[in-house]
Amino acid sequence: MNKKHFRKQFLLLTLAGSVGAGTLVGCSGQQTAEEETEVTATTEQNQMDIKQEPFGKTKEGEETTLYTLTNEKGMQVQITDYGATITSVLTPDREGKMADVVLGFDSLAGYQSPEYLKSGPYFGAIVGRYGNRIAKGKFTIDGQEYKLATNNGVNHLHGGVKGFDKVVWEAEPMPGQNAVRFKYVSPDGEEGYPGTLTSTVTYTLTNDNEIKIDYEATTDKATPVNLTNHSYFNLAPGQAKDALGHVLTINADKYTVVDETLIPTGELRDVKGTVMDFNTPQAIGARVKQVEGGGYDHNYVLSETGDGLKKAATVYEPTSGRVMEVLTTEPGIQFYSGNFLDGTITGAGGNKYEKHYGFALETQHFPDSPNQPKFPSTILEPGETYKSTTVYKFSTRDQQ
Ligand code: GLA
Repeated sequence: MNKKHFRKQFLLLTLAGSVGAGTLVGCSGQQTAEEETEVTATTEQNQMDIKQEPFGKTKEGEETTLYTLTNEKGMQVQITDYGATITSVLTPDREGKMADVVLGFDSLAGYQSPEYLKSGPYFGAIVGRYGNRIAKGKFTIDGQEYKLATNNGVNHLHGGVKGFDKVVWEAEPMPGQNAVRFKYVSPDGEEGYPGTLTSTVTYTLTNDNEIKIDYEATTDKATPVNLTNHSYFNLAPGQAKDALGHVLTINADKYTVVDETLIPTGELRDVKGTVMDFNTPQAIGARVKQVEGGGYDHNYVLSETGDGLKKAATVYEPTSGRVMEVLTTEPGIQFYSGNFLDGTITGAGGNKYEKHYGFALETQHFPDSPNQPKFPSTILEPGETYKSTTVYKFSTRDQQ
């Protein structure tokens, strides 16, 4: 079987697997698997069907839906409207074998279980209004002090008690773009934040095996905004062990130094000559034990600045050959090595998520920016549009 033929066969299998249980939304209309064999996939064509199926009911009785995006190479991304959460990402290894590379669950129950809510790892979710921490849950805009929910010791973390990860977003499948757009209107005062904030998050799966995430938001009162996706990755075959063998590069010469509650002191420190330096590829586990606080949980100041997408990080998993590149318009990236995972959660594949089982690379503005006048501003004013884009691009390398 030549490569092209193999791909076509794979597409057929993927599509055949999609027909049946859920609803398919597609520009080309619903086709049988047989008709699909006649379709010649081209790189320009990206009009794939988007499967929709029920994902479960929230505790409040709201129905949720799972959306499946597939591209012509057979890569597949599943996203639920609960928290606009990525629940699974199937990518090929160097032999072409597909496997899930994120931590997650195959139904809503996993995201609502007592163990999950207790440890609060935010698997795959959109976190907001403010991803990361705001010191003591307080900030002042135009002379007025605002008090947010404090849900991480004395600090505010990832939007509060019921952040954007725990609400059901409105979804709009966009089959012509192979994308789903999610929208959430956060009322004035929610979790203590000022202003009604309307946010959209669009996930696009390209034929180059990229997940592109476009964020936009508008407000009717000045408010802090810092949206990110909190996926945990483990690119190893079957996710059979922790992610410490993954080899990571982060294009950053500095990081934001934090206090014992993980709030930045304001200092940007050079990584050179320290365990924080990932400018050259390093196994995550090589120095993780030397990092204070049980592992990496730090915001890196990306070296490349300016408009447009910049390369932030690359991850290589040697046994599978999988590579993931992270590109972003944001100035920072939180590298979190899954330090708080403790084996109490069992994921979709039946694996126990132990410490360092997955890692997050959360593109963002710096933590606690509303209280750090020297950091790039995170305040969105009425009349402005918040815009941010991040791309997770998957490929493989042949050699070990
Ligand atoms: C972020 C934080 C971590 C932790 C995780 C979720 O990465 O920086 O400290 O809260 O989210 O567990």
